[in-house]
Amino acid sequence: MSIKHMEGISKEIRHVFKLDTPNSTYLIGIVDEEGFVSHLYYGDRMKEDNYSGLLRIFDYPFLPSHNNRDRAAFLDSFPMEYPTHGTGDFRKDCFRIETEGGNSAVSLVFRDFEIKKGKPALAGLPATFGKDEEVSTLTLICEDIPTGIEYRLNYSVFEDLDVVTRNVEIRNRGSKNIFLTRAYSACLDMDNEDFCAITLHGSWARERKITETPIGSPMITVESKRGASSHQDNPFIAIKDRNATTDSGRVYGMNFVYSGNFMITAKEDQFGMLRVTMGISEEDFRWKLAPEESFRTPEAVLVYSNEGTGKMTRTFHDLYRKHLIRSPYKDRKRPILINNWEATYFEFNTEKLIAIAKEASSLGIEMLVMDDGWFGKRNDDTTSLGDWNVNEEKLPGGLKYLVDEVNKLGMKFGIWFEPEMISPDSDLYRAHPDWAIAIPGRDATRSRNQFVLDLSRQDVLDHTYESIASILRSANIEYVKWDMNRQLTDLGSAYLPADRMGELMHRYVLGVYSLQERLLREFPDLLLENCSGGGARFDPGMLYYSPQIWCSDDTDAIERLSIQEGTALVYPLSTMGAHVSDCPNHMTGRITPFETRGHVALAGTFGYELDVTRIPEADRKMIPSQVGTYHKYNDLVREGDYYRIASFRENGSHDCWGVVAKDRSEALFTYVKVKAGANERRRRIRFAGLDPDRIYRIEGEEGEYSGDLLMKAGYLVPNMNGDFRSRLIHLS
Ligand code: DGJ
Repeated sequence: MSIKHMEGISKEIRHVFKLDTPNSTYLIGIVDEEGFVSHLYYGDRMKEDNYSGLLRIFDYPFLPSHNNRDRAAFLDSFPMEYPTHGTGDFRKDCFRIETEGGNSAVSLVFRDFEIKKGKPALAGLPATFGKDEEVSTLTLICEDIPTGIEYRLNYSVFEDLDVVTRNVEIRNRGSKNIFLTRAYSACLDMDNEDFCAITLHGSWARERKITETPIGSPMITVESKRGASSHQDNPFIAIKDRNATTDSGRVYGMNFVYSGNFMITAKEDQFGMLRVTMGISEEDFRWKLAPEESFRTPEAVLVYSNEGTGKMTRTFHDLYRKHLIRSPYKDRKRPILINNWEATYFEFNTEKLIAIAKEASSLGIEMLVMDDGWFGKRNDDTTSLGDWNVNEEKLPGGLKYLVDEVNKLGMKFGIWFEPEMISPDSDLYRAHPDWAIAIPGRDATRSRNQFVLDLSRQDVLDHTYESIASILRSANIEYVKWDMNRQLTDLGSAYLPADRMGELMHRYVLGVYSLQERLLREFPDLLLENCSGGGARFDPGMLYYSPQIWCSDDTDAIERLSIQEGTALVYPLSTMGAHVSDCPNHMTGRITPFETRGHVALAGTFGYELDVTRIPEADRKMIPSQVGTYHKYNDLVREGDYYRIASFRENGSHDCWGVVAKDRSEALFTYVKVKAGANERRRRIRFAGLDPDRIYRIEGEEGEYSGDLLMKAGYLVPNMNGDFRSRLIHLS
């Protein structure tokens, strides 16, 4: 078991808990008398030792029981595992309450602990999982004596990956109502050793740009208060040595397994100590805990790497592929799909879709996905969300007829929904105006002409579920794209009482999770792809339900280089929705070679987003060979180890990434030359991840090279003329 408990190792430390992964150690110390839960160490794996010297109780102003005069100053500097509000720690805390008397102070003292094999599921929440022999869990049971709050701080430690996960369960053991006004999932207190933070930021169509910020006294915040994890900030932060690279240096990656509002902070304090916190945002959050009620925080994942950001990335990828994604598709090739959104937008009918499907199937494409516009009276985005009945004017003969015709062509059929929404112009809204999130007496803000359904209500959840499920039962539908195209505003629920209104945001997310869970239970073989106006819900919470997520509405191959680089920093390639679209690109107007668009989309789930009956003949002719390339390499792309070789975002000229088979027998590198230059030398690319002692052949070329040479001296990429050119380099 990777969790060890040591008792009474010094006068000051009552217990030490040592959490070991293959290459990391995480140490927690319980201070005698006071019961403080102190962070001692997180970093390279350590041998058994005497850890008492790590406890910062001999720093001024010393342990409060020895010096009650400066208790507050002590609390304001001591490294804590779960800092609480209002008793002396003035740094960012993880837990704050409001009592019936209006007070907010709360503390946490250790009472007991449990160590168990395995990892309990988090009811109603997505979370990583593992068998008893793969993971074990430490629970520190703590309390706030005056209010009767019980905390269970859970730490799960993976045997084969450098991963520790955390969450907290809070129970009101007292006799009065308590309101949680902040309940985070994790805190990391360390010395700040010239660290900087990596975060992922963006906007619609520009998601997850990698950003590096030195950590100092001004607080870094990464957050969403939009109701979804958002285009703007991803629920991720990595703390790294300032000069760590892709393959060297210490990196602490933290990712939040949640799809709603979140808050991550990082700040150096007055003594040069770093505190990082992660949890549900306190904005619009106030959760009532009546006596004996409990609240569970979502999971925070901590990954440690002492081999740079690359190893951190590969650990996240392995964790999510093995211990988070549940779909039967997770280890399977996904059908190559063609989606009609960029092909037709709202202007389609059965005839048009069948024409696309016919042509697509003859080229080897395996699934037709009918996007937005097939229901109610939806011919643009002003109407009908919530009216999930087929528009027979567009689809004469109904859905079953269309699906059967597509199936006859040997293709699967997939469909788009936006289940969480309601258009003011819909039969559903006319019948149930109180089902929309809104505040009585205040005109709710419209966004994309729509409102959001109040998914804190069971009746709304049941109705929504039945509307989707009945469509899925009506025909052979094998894929669903679950979209979400606006953020939450005007937070009011006609169902929640005033003292629970602050629960709406989180209850909404729990409602989304419950809908997706129910869907997968009734349709276990369904391939679900989450989406939110492109990539606003690219988070690990969603991956628990869907093995893939639409990465961005920006399908331009060159823009996609940095979007996919940022996404792949944390999330496996097998989860990145990526399609070849038509040119000039609808978002940027850029014209790129069809071949390059294919190579960039091959880094993800792969598919097409164009009218295959109307694209240039030369492009159409290329599709069968692209399809062949996908089938040839997708196992490797889905399951291999990912290496970032060069970044166009950084160098402004070219991009290169690779996937290497776990046994290092095979690798595929993708090189994209973005900008052409005159009279250039061939560019040298140093591969990574290969076996130095093995001899590799490069597909389509003469000669053999050792892995050692290809990683040290590199490979000279053959010249390609023109901008936006790309090349796949396959080694075996
Ligand atoms: C946003 C999605 O990201 C697009 O792919 C498309 O499905 C539209 N919504 C449809 O409204």
